[in-house]
Amino acid sequence: MSAQSPKRYSPILVTLHWLIALLIFATFYLGFSTEDVPLTEEVGILRWHMPLGITVLLLMIVRFVVRLRTARPEPVTTGNAILDKIGVGTHHLLYLFAFLVPLTGLVLSATFNLAPVVFGGEGSLPRDLSPMLHGLIDPILALLIFLHILAALYHQFIRKDNLLARMWYGK
Ligand code: HEM
Ligand code: HEM
Repeated sequence: MSAQSPKRYSPILVTLHWLIALLIFATFYLGFSTEDVPLTEEVGILRWHMPLGITVLLLMIVRFVVRLRTARPEPVTTGNAILDKIGVGTHHLLYLFAFLVPLTGLVLSATFNLAPVVFGGEGSLPRDLSPMLHGLIDPILALLIFLHILAALYHQFIRKDNLLARMWYGK
């Protein structure tokens, strides 16, 4: 396989990677903005947060299917077997949590029947609304993304192996 492995991810995976990254940042920002605001203001934030989160989930499904069907570059090596394993493991966990966080958001919305309030303007948000599992696991996704960005910077500026080019367009 290594002889035919491409040098970079396919353009569609590159596009999905950066599009999803942007959407996840925006969804996180809006999610954190729901904390400590009055329930009346929270509805307006959720009107954006929930559809953006659902878009992330749908794009992650597309991305997963594309990932299975397109050739990818070999996992990068750093010369340290443990670091290499952490690299591959973090990517798998990123996939898992980028699914689980929006999924638990959907469960949360269904549990409190939020759609009619948020999108239909019916009534108001329940006073006992709490983020449940969604709020417990979103810090894990945030931490994984933070580690992932640190790793990308480490590759780019300390190892100087131009890893970012693998996640960009080109021949
Ligand atoms: C500024 C933010 C980000 C930077 C600088 C960045 C950078 C990169 C780079 C350079 C790669 C290629 C690694 C390689 O060649 O092996 C990569 C892959 C990957 N990134 Fe990011 N990334 C960012 C945000 C995110 C976010 C928010 C996610 C959340 C889902 C994510 C998930 C992944 C995954 C799962 C891979 C592996 C690709 C695959 O196997 O499909 N990244 N990222
Ligand atoms: C990538 C996707 C998503 C991310 C990163 C994300 C992140 C967050 C964060 C950080 C919070 C604040 C949690 C806290 O107060 O501790 C939050 C709250 C919330 N999220 Fe999401 N979320 C996503 C998707 C979704 C989806 C798809 C839905 C529903 C369709 C949803 C529904 C909610 C609701 C209703 C709250 C408010 C909970 C409360 O006020 O107690 N989220 N989200």
